[in-house]
Amino acid sequence: MSAFKWWQKSVFYQIYPRSFADGNGDGIGDFKGMNGKLDYLMDLGVDAVWLSPHFPSPMVDCGYDISDYENVAPEYGTLDEFKTFLNGAHARGMHVILDLVLNHTSDAHRWFLESKSSCDNPKADWYVWVDTPPNNWQSCFDGSAWTYAPERGQFYYHYFMRQQPDLNWYNPEVRKAMWDSARFWLEMGVDGFRLDAIGTIYEDPKLTPHTVAMDLAGLRHFSDIAKTPAERVLVEQYWRDMFKYQLDQPGIHELMKELRAVLDEYEGDRMLVGEDEDVTYQGNGEDELSMVFNFPLMRTDQLTPEWVRKNQKERITALAKVSPQAWACNTLGNHDCSRVYTRYSASRNGGNVIHDAELARLNLAVILTLRGTPFLYNGEEIGMTDTLIPDPFKLRDTMATWYYDRLVNELKVEPLQAALRAAAMSRDKNRTPLQWRNTFNGGFCPTGVTPWLPVNPNYAEGINVQEQEKDPASLLTFYRHLLRVRKATPALVEGDYRPVHETVKEVLAFLRSTPEQKVLVLLNFSEKQLSLDFSDRGIKSARVIFSSAGQATSGLSQFMINPFEIWIAELK
Ligand code: GLC
Repeated sequence: MSAFKWWQKSVFYQIYPRSFADGNGDGIGDFKGMNGKLDYLMDLGVDAVWLSPHFPSPMVDCGYDISDYENVAPEYGTLDEFKTFLNGAHARGMHVILDLVLNHTSDAHRWFLESKSSCDNPKADWYVWVDTPPNNWQSCFDGSAWTYAPERGQFYYHYFMRQQPDLNWYNPEVRKAMWDSARFWLEMGVDGFRLDAIGTIYEDPKLTPHTVAMDLAGLRHFSDIAKTPAERVLVEQYWRDMFKYQLDQPGIHELMKELRAVLDEYEGDRMLVGEDEDVTYQGNGEDELSMVFNFPLMRTDQLTPEWVRKNQKERITALAKVSPQAWACNTLGNHDCSRVYTRYSASRNGGNVIHDAELARLNLAVILTLRGTPFLYNGEEIGMTDTLIPDPFKLRDTMATWYYDRLVNELKVEPLQAALRAAAMSRDKNRTPLQWRNTFNGGFCPTGVTPWLPVNPNYAEGINVQEQEKDPASLLTFYRHLLRVRKATPALVEGDYRPVHETVKEVLAFLRSTPEQKVLVLLNFSEKQLSLDFSDRGIKSARVIFSSAGQATSGLSQFMINPFEIWIAELK
């Protein structure tokens, strides 16, 4: 039996509940819809689902502002429907993890309502209260990090929107209450959690002011207009300096250990993945998080072989320092960033748009063949693209509407300009409803119903599930195929990673090996046919497992790889 845990062998698929599937036809995704798509997920070939928050919420931050940690948002359905989803996933051999938001609650949560009601109520110390704003700290979403609560005559701290007050994690009662909520779901059988924004949990106890001579709106504005390399460097520096006393403060490791111990009360290898890139949160490999995301991999305008090689070198070295058990977790997209298809499109990088579809396939191949657990984002499998919403009054992402308002009213930017900028920075563009069919509203909700965010009209140009399911050449068919290849090839899951032909600019080439199996992966990111020499590597034969160009050749002395080809073979 393999010593690898289920979450090391799984491919995860992130569901954004509001946009995934609308079962009751009100324009908002829900559990009825999700339950109807369980077979779709199984056929796709993913092994686990990460559900973005499904809890009751005023939806100021689209569910990341939770007002009850132990229930289901009424517009998404009932607890029973959630259980149907969980059990239905389990019955199909899939695991389910939930989103656990630790840093803050909604300001509509009963804990906060009580906390703000007076200075001496039982929960008075559950949030971070001060008499007057002690410094110039900013919220990364909406200006000053300190907001006045007239009921109590004091200010509270919030790293995100003012409707998302930060919890005081020094208070043991807060920890107990949150761990009890985690237990509520663990007892029901959920398989673990994706932990939201763990780096924001603690703040500098000395409350040291930041040193940037701008506020949040000013810095966002400067980030938008900075052009020269020197200005870009400054932008990065300012972002770091503005938030350095509010992020990654001591105490998080201890907290993660506590939560790990809660999960260990339950059988079945419950897992934790942190929304953070710091591998030290994996502790000794067993006492903190199971994984953190390899965010540096996606932090580029262009995914090139050189970039991936450099990233792997750095991550593998960092993980090895943490513990022999430390495990990688690779992703290219989620609900917070521009869609992979758009972000890494050829045309964005001076190439030809006709290659976008090939690049989308290569990007998936990278994620599914590197060592580590892959996370995919819903809609990626059909090549959904960003949907810019030019009317700022139709935006739902409050961080973008706040910015629009500041641009127009404070920074006196011309409204049309401001609208374009808000549309581009808004996360709505990558959260639009899933395109199921080539019918009105992309088949997400009935004709005559307005979906919560506009559906991208490109559902009528083949970017929909129903048409791609039937097309052997579609991106969806490719996703299904490659997911099956991965599952059937143990070395792609468990094998170590060794780069080869490291000086070839256009091709990402590496070996994945276990004691039983050795696999060679070649990914040509260029429009050129290239020749690669493997004659001096002691390879007797190569059995082709996958070739996007239909190559069955096994001769490796002068191997010709086709433009944009994905080629995977077992070596002997
Ligand atoms: C995380 C979530 C993001 C949310 C923020 C505040 O970064 O991914 O969507 O807005 O936390 O909860």
